[in-house]
Amino acid sequence: MDFPSSQEMIDQVVQIAKGFYARKDRAHDLEHALRVRNWGKKIALAEGADVTVIELAALLHDIGRSGAVEKTHAQSSAGLAVNILHKAGYSEDLIARVKEAIIAHSREAGYEPETLEAKILYDADKLDFVGAIGLGRLFTLGGVQGWPIMGENSCESFYQERIQGYQEHLFTKTALTYFKPLFLYMEEFWRQLHSEMI
Ligand SMILES: [Fe+2]
Ligand SMILES: [Fe+2]
Repeated sequence: MDFPSSQEMIDQVVQIAKGFYARKDRAHDLEHALRVRNWGKKIALAEGADVTVIELAALLHDIGRSGAVEKTHAQSSAGLAVNILHKAGYSEDLIARVKEAIIAHSREAGYEPETLEAKILYDADKLDFVGAIGLGRLFTLGGVQGWPIMGENSCESFYQERIQGYQEHLFTKTALTYFKPLFLYMEEFWRQLHSEMI
C-alpha cells in the first residue's frame, strides 16, 4: 500500500478546510487561511519553527467561525482541527501542537501563545489585516457586519481599536519587520480618506 506524501496529506486538509470556509464572511475564508499559511511559512523558516505545525494550524485556524459550539471561534476551530487531523492520520504530538497554536491565535479565548509555533500563527494572522489586503478585508468585514466607513461601530473604529494595536502585540521580530511598512500604508490610507472629506 502506498502511503500519501506529507504534501498530499496537507492538500487533503486544504480540501476539507475549503468546505468549512464556504460562507458569506469573505474576510475569514479559505483565501485568508492560505495567506496566513504563506506568512506563517515565511516566518517559520526565518525563526526556525516547525513548518508543518504552522501550515496545518494556519489552514484550520478559523474553520470554527460559523456555527460555533464552543465558547470562542478559536476553541471551536481547535476542536474541529483535532478531529480532521486524527482522521488524516497525523501523530498525537503534532495534533497537540497544532491545537495549542489554534486556541491561542485569538486573545478572546484568554490564552496566550506560549510555543514558538503558536506565536508565529498569531503573528501571521495579524499580518493579513494590514496593507492593501488588510484594507480589503476590513471593508469586506464591514460589509458583513453592516458597519459605516467612519464613526461609531465603523470600519475606522475597528481599525483604531484592533488593528492599530497589533504592532505592540506581535511576538516575532520577523513578523514585526513585515508588519511595519504594511501598517504605514494603512495609516496613510486613513489620512487620505480624511483629507477627502469636504
Ligand atoms: Fe481567528
Ligand atoms: Fe484568521
